Formats: sequence, structure tokens, C-alpha cells
Amino acid sequence: MLKNRDVNISNPEKIEIISDSFQKQFGSSPDMIVRCPGRVNLIGEHTDYNDGFVLPIALPFETVIAACPSADAQMNLISEEFGPAHFSLEDNPMSTSGWGRYIHAMGTLLAQSNPELLGWNGYICSSIPIGANLSSSAALEIAAGMVFKHFGGLEVTHTELALIGQRVENEFIGVRSGIMDQMACALSQRNTALLIDCLTLETSMVSIPEDVTVVIMDTGTRRELRSSEYNRRRESCESVALELGVPSLRNASLEDITNLTDETLKRRTRHVVSENGRVLDVVKAFSISDSFTAGQLFSDSHLSLRDDYDVSGPALNQIVEVALGAPGCFGARMTGGGFAGSAVALVDRNEVNNFCDFVKTNFAAPKAQPAITSVMLYPVEE
Ligand code: GLA
Repeated sequence: MLKNRDVNISNPEKIEIISDSFQKQFGSSPDMIVRCPGRVNLIGEHTDYNDGFVLPIALPFETVIAACPSADAQMNLISEEFGPAHFSLEDNPMSTSGWGRYIHAMGTLLAQSNPELLGWNGYICSSIPIGANLSSSAALEIAAGMVFKHFGGLEVTHTELALIGQRVENEFIGVRSGIMDQMACALSQRNTALLIDCLTLETSMVSIPEDVTVVIMDTGTRRELRSSEYNRRRESCESVALELGVPSLRNASLEDITNLTDETLKRRTRHVVSENGRVLDVVKAFSISDSFTAGQLFSDSHLSLRDDYDVSGPALNQIVEVALGAPGCFGARMTGGGFAGSAVALVDRNEVNNFCDFVKTNFAAPKAQPAITSVMLYPVEE
């Protein structure tokens, strides 16, 4: 049986290859195949853990798992890129290192309310670039969660799977991330952005103006120890909320900021408050096909992340600057957690090829890496 998120499998050839690989490794056909996309966040950065708004969109990159159930708690997994991982759901996920821990922890958390949960054999491949701020780990968590759900007959919604994926990051990986990535991977639909209210977890679909193409620019840079800086930002926000006497920075206003004495905390708070406003303004601009205003808001967001929240990085700043000078660019910004990885631009659909050529030629990648490891256009031609 072929199983899919909610949409048709876009590339049947790919599914066949994965099915064959599973067969070679495990000696039988898979019982199910799931796929889960990565995401790029259009706007609303570092707002999710402040109960704010985010606007991600699904990528054409995806993680695919072919799987068969086991008779016991044993899990035998093979990643096309990273090799094997073997563990038992009876063991603590902390005893599994590397990528396998994401899946082990999903299983452990789901088993807390389903003690009979069995393991499975899985063959995994992914086209989502790792460490590029495009949610490769959330896609792995959600895809694995769907396999557990199916084989275990679990009554669990996509939102609940997202919340469990977030717990995996928080409790087993050590990143105190918000809910955006897992919600985006679990709930996005093709061709529309997903507005998420991270306080209520309400979502709505937002169309992108027809004259616009979203371009993702991977700088090729990756940053180690990102999680410690990330966690520090979150702590700052929590301490300001405490100082202001509000449940979270969702409830803070620009006037509140004047009451803060610490200059760094003032800047951090100004980013979160203004970024929440920008998300809603982009949604408004999209609704009237005002790509210029949306683009300007993207660029404002980048400056705020660079100067107030201090989460950009040299390569991200450089690629955004190049993009802003490229033909057809409405606006550009770093995307995701920041420090390294990818930026995103809103580009006039008619100028997209010129835009990409310009960025590839003019972005001088650090350490002689390829200028742009991947540029994806959205929507993809099929
Ligand atoms: C990472 C986290 C998300 C979110 C973004 C920044 O992707 O996983 O929860 O906080 O950074 O917007």
C-alpha cells in the first residue's frame, strides 16, 4: 500500500526506486511509503516560541520513508545518506546517537500513551538539505510519526504529531525550538503558505500573489553550536516577558519596550514585537497581490533579525544584499533559525531566471564552496 500525506505522490519513479531499495535491504516490499516536505519560513522568525505568528510554506524537497512493521519493539533503519541505525523502543532514546535519535524519541513519546507500540523496518531518503534551516529534522520526525501512527493504528492528529516532534527537539536533542517547523511539515499544503498562530495553533492557508516566485538561496554555510545561541535567545524573551508581567512577548507592545533598561533586551523585544506585526502585514499584502509591500516587509524583517535579534551571519547578509540588487527582487531575508544556511526572496516571476543567474554570479561563497548549493523555485514545474 502506498501511503501519502494528503496529496498525490508527485514522483512515482522516485517511489519505485525507494521501494526497490527497501526490498534489497529487507527482502520484502514495503507495506507503506510516507513522504513529508521540508519548509521554508516566509516570515515570522523567532516568533513561534513567543506565542506569535509564522508563515512557512512547504518545499518541493522531501523526506520519504518506506517501511514494514516488526513483530517486536526492534527498529532497523537505513538512511540512504547516513547508513544504518538499530535500536529497541524499550531502550532510552539518549542511547541512540545521530539521526536515529529523532525517530527513536518519536517512538518513545508515542509509546507513552500506546505501550504496545511496535517497531518497524524503514528505508529513508531525503532531498532536504541538512543544516540549511529548511527543517530536515522536523520532516524526519513527522514522517516517522506517520509510520508509527499507521502501523500502531494510533488516534493522533497531525497537530499532535507536530507537538510530539517539538518535544523530541526540546527533550532529546537539546534545542528549545518552537512549534513552527513541525506544524509546517505536518500541515502544509501544496502551493499555499500556512499562517500559524503559535498561541492557539490555529492555521489558515494563505495564497501567494501570482506574479511572485519564492526563491530559496542556500549559502552553503552551516553552523555548529547553533542550539546554544538559539536557546539563549529564547531565555532572553522569557525573561523580558517575566519583567513586563505578560504571559509571553505576544502580549508585549512597542511602548512596553521603553520600560526596559537593558539595551540588548530592548532590541530583542523590538524584533519579536515588530516581526509579529510584519507577518500579519505580509498576509494582508498577499491578499491584495501587493508584492512590493510584501517584499519590503521581507527586507525589514532581515534588518530586524540582523541588527536587533543578532541571528544573521556574514554569508546570509551577503546573499540578501546581492539578492536585493538582482533583477525582479521584491525583497529578501534570512530564513529559519539563522546564523548560516538559507535566505528566501520574493521575485517577479518573469525575472526569475535573471534573478538566479545574478545571485549565482555575484554571491562570493565563503571557503570557495559552490555559490548556491541549491536554488528552488516555487511553485515547481511538474
Ligand atoms: C528554528 C526553530 C523554529 C523557529 C525558527 C526561527 O527553525 O526550530 O521553532 O523558532 O528557528 O523562527
